Amino acid sequence: MEIQNVKFVKSSQFNHEMPKPDRPEYGFVGRSNVGKSSLINALCNHSGLAKTSAKPGKTQVINHFIVDDEWYLVDLPGYGYAKVSKSARQKFERMIRDYCTLRPNLVSLFVLVDSRHSPQLNDLEFMSFLGVSQIPFGIVFTKADKLKPQELEKNLKVYQEEMLKTWEELPPIFLTSSEKKTGLEDLRFYIEDNMKYFYGEGYDEMEYP
Ligand code: GTP
Ligand code: MG
Repeated sequence: MEIQNVKFVKSSQFNHEMPKPDRPEYGFVGRSNVGKSSLINALCNHSGLAKTSAKPGKTQVINHFIVDDEWYLVDLPGYGYAKVSKSARQKFERMIRDYCTLRPNLVSLFVLVDSRHSPQLNDLEFMSFLGVSQIPFGIVFTKADKLKPQELEKNLKVYQEEMLKTWEELPPIFLTSSEKKTGLEDLRFYIEDNMKYFYGEGYDEMEYP
């Protein structure tokens, strides 16, 4: 899939403020500073689209973008940032969970995980919540450029082993670097391939004879 045209639509805090759920939607979620906004920019080849920052806690609202007039891409605030007050943290967590469970056109989430780190409890808990809520998701490992190939391989193996302690099957896994623009084609392919879950079974035949 080629991404040609991406436009910012609006920022919201609550589902009733969001654009009409009339198109397939994909959300990018994960701990603060993991690289959500950077990945969105890399994926869309549009450097200033989503605001990024070296300081965690940059994205504080839910931002909708429309891609080629066909689907929504959503940049979410990060969870688990220790330096904000407990009440602010709870507010973000609530916002994220409500979005995930109540957005009717959500096709899949991407849970971003920093490839340098060992499995973190809040990521694992968040994915368990998605599992219990039956929300489809893929794991996107970010910042792959910061590690040597052997280190990456080891970290991914450790992560998968940790997941398999509680999951019967692993979700789709992507390895990316927004800096080096790697792994993006696999993500675009997954996005395109999953559109059918919004349109129903006929979509493949209809759009790609
Ligand atoms: P919040 O909005 O605060 O939750 O953060 P975020 O997840 O949107 O992270 P953001 O994209 O703002 O990136 C955080 C920092 O990580 C920035 O300094 C980015 O330049 C850096 N970063 C993001 N992706 C990559 C990557 O693939 N490689 C490298 N080397 N740095 C990255
Ligand atoms: Mg952000």
